Amino acid sequence: NNFAILMAGGVGSRFWPVSTAAKPKQFRDLLGRGETLIQTTFRRLSQLVPSKNIYVLTNERYDHLVKQQLPQLDEEQIVLEPVMRNTAPAVLLASLKIWKKNSKAVMIMAPSDHWIEDEQAFHNDLTTAFEAARGQDKILTLGIKPTFPNTGYGYIKFDPLASGRVKPVELFTEKPSYAVAKDFLKSGNFLWNAGIFVWNAAYILRAFQKNLQQTFDLFSKGAPVFNTSEEKDFIKQNYPEAENISIDYAILEKEQGTIEVIPASFDWNDLGTWGSLYEETVKDADGNIALNARLFAENATGNLISSDKNKVVVLEGMNDYVIVDENEVLLIVPREKEQDIKRIRESVKEKFGEN
Ligand code: GDD
Ligand code: MG
Repeated sequence: NNFAILMAGGVGSRFWPVSTAAKPKQFRDLLGRGETLIQTTFRRLSQLVPSKNIYVLTNERYDHLVKQQLPQLDEEQIVLEPVMRNTAPAVLLASLKIWKKNSKAVMIMAPSDHWIEDEQAFHNDLTTAFEAARGQDKILTLGIKPTFPNTGYGYIKFDPLASGRVKPVELFTEKPSYAVAKDFLKSGNFLWNAGIFVWNAAYILRAFQKNLQQTFDLFSKGAPVFNTSEEKDFIKQNYPEAENISIDYAILEKEQGTIEVIPASFDWNDLGTWGSLYEETVKDADGNIALNARLFAENATGNLISSDKNKVVVLEGMNDYVIVDENEVLLIVPREKEQDIKRIRESVKEKFGEN
């Protein structure tokens, strides 16, 4: 009775121009490994969960990409959202489907676009999480040792001296301000939320009923048609009425008393930005990385170059830049400005249209 939901509806806008609204990063081979991020994630999860119990949740515009990249999925394992409403409504919908199949289901919610190198360690930690969540009213989180006050993550306060691998959680704060994140880091008892959760379906549905009542009522009306041929019509008609909120704000912050954390024993990176990719990729002697490009560099260090056509790229006197040549876009931005790419992309869209 292990199930999984794979979150694949995000746009990954800070990875533009390789991640685009038409083909977000989870559907790209970002690391140059011969498989896309969602294919890697599916493979990793299928060691914990039978393949037929893995559901992919995504926007309907990515239906063809999911089918192309994961041809082993049945139609009913792909849940298509007609509009973007963030993660909470999608998770609620999938949890209702899964609970209807198996009221004792234990499920993992996993992002489709993260980098995790040590699959054995991942497997061990998640096996522990599944055991802890079975039949218990608990939310199991995976905690990552923080390295800087990143304001884009959730923070988990735990008791490092508690015995056992699963630790009680004292506080969960999603996306704190910079000042608060800095304080958290100083205190030392905080971990980053990896965005991977394990819970049993019956419990999470009760938590939704309590904390996201309107959307719970909306979707549970449709429960009789879930897992039937009428499901898709129901979703198309009702999904746009769902509240727009992430699982972290809708459930985690509200159910703090039931959260537990396993300090992760695997290396993790959410591949949120070009800089995070730079960290996880092998560099040459000058600290440059050339993805799908033939690099000639003089007096140039710390650059990340990505090309879509194996171009010869010549650099002289340029340090710490991200240079991305993709379709009609050539992007040249200092690595330290990587967070601005999301905003820049919006302005470029206004000026030249979507690309
Ligand atoms: N199906 C679906 N629908 N998936 C979505 C949607 C949606 O509307 N929106 C986002 N996703 C997917 C993304 O593709 C990603 O895999 C995952 O859900 C998480 O969404 P993000 O938008 O990337 O969340 P975040 O990075 O702001 O924050 C979450 O992840 C952090 C770690 O990377 C939170 O859980 C944080 O607490 C956590 O630290
Ligand atoms: Mg993210």
